[in-house]
Amino acid sequence: MRIIVTGGSGFIGWHLANYLARNNQDEITIIDNHERGEADSMFLELISRPNVKFINQDMTQKNFYNELSGYYDCVYHLAAINGTKNFYERPYDVMRVNILSLMNMLEYCNKDNCGAFLFSSSSEAYAGTVDSEPDSYIPTRENIPLSVSDVMNPRWSYGGSKITGELLTVNYCRTHNVNFKIIRYHNIYGIRMGYDHVLPEFFRRILQRVNPFPIYGGQETRAFCSVDDAVKATEAVMLSAKCNSEIVHIGNSSQEIKIIDLLSLVLDIADYHPEINIVPAPEGCVARRCPDTDKLFRLTGFKAAITLQEALPEMFNWYEARYKEREKL
Ligand SMILES: NC(=O)c1ccc[n+]([C@@H]2O[C@H](COP(=O)([O-])OP(=O)(O)OC[C@H]3O[C@@H](n4cnc5c(N)ncnc54)[C@H](O)[C@@H]3O)[C@@H](O)[C@H]2O)c1
Repeated sequence: MRIIVTGGSGFIGWHLANYLARNNQDEITIIDNHERGEADSMFLELISRPNVKFINQDMTQKNFYNELSGYYDCVYHLAAINGTKNFYERPYDVMRVNILSLMNMLEYCNKDNCGAFLFSSSSEAYAGTVDSEPDSYIPTRENIPLSVSDVMNPRWSYGGSKITGELLTVNYCRTHNVNFKIIRYHNIYGIRMGYDHVLPEFFRRILQRVNPFPIYGGQETRAFCSVDDAVKATEAVMLSAKCNSEIVHIGNSSQEIKIIDLLSLVLDIADYHPEINIVPAPEGCVARRCPDTDKLFRLTGFKAAITLQEALPEMFNWYEARYKEREKL
């Protein structure tokens, strides 16, 4: 198969491309401009494989697909600007890049050169709805109405770009007879996820031997899904005909955990036992998030199975080595 993975130097995109390239049978083309993803040794190793090609290109540029040619069986579109800091500091960029990259990629695709198009959306597309009525909507199914709670709040730049992205995907693909699938990722974690998320932040403070160890709130829950499960689920959605024209949640509802309990788990793994200082949660902090993943199982037979207890020790060791190298911790 000929496959495109956009955003392939980023977190999930790298894991996905690395997984898809595993048997050397498929030809993988990665498109990224290193806006966030790094050309680190793991990325360089991946693109040195004979069946992997890298196009270093800003996908918002109209001419970006000059280097693409012929028929691609599968297009996984993951390129986007995400990260809470960006939503607040660069809201227009978030919308511009997420929407233009998608439109340019879609406009390359037609029924003669694209077998299936997959758009990666996010739980942020429905965050406004679930937050207004958590008891009715958690665990969250795919048919929840999408919403932007406050147009004036830059936070919604990202969720708004994902809602727009879902609409663009459905309507472009229907108009041009392109087979499509939409996935919504939920709290994916693993090595090479960057340094701004809750787990890498905990690891950093552990290695800095912070004591007392502050935690903001900690009573809120999230359902964490290992990236190894997430990429298998993503491929399963792409390959399942039952997922054609469907929206599918990807996550691990069995791994819902309070953030304070996640911290305890990480501290045990690191064998570090500081005093915990519970600080009031920031205003607007979301109390609970958990996807309903029954549809994923029903349509693909895949169920995320990796527990936090299984995945975190390796992840901690990986980050410990990186922090020692980068920050001399
Ligand atoms: N990580 C999660 O838990 C999560 C949750 C919900 C949705 N998602 C979505 O999944 C996808 C992958 O997320 P991730 O966590 O791997 O993010 P990431 O930031 O690590 O990866 C996104 C990649 O897109 C690239 N990119 C950004 N702008 C570009 C441009 N103009 N041209 C080309 N490439 C560009 C970045 O350089 C980066 O490598 C994104 O669409 C994201 O919105 C992720």
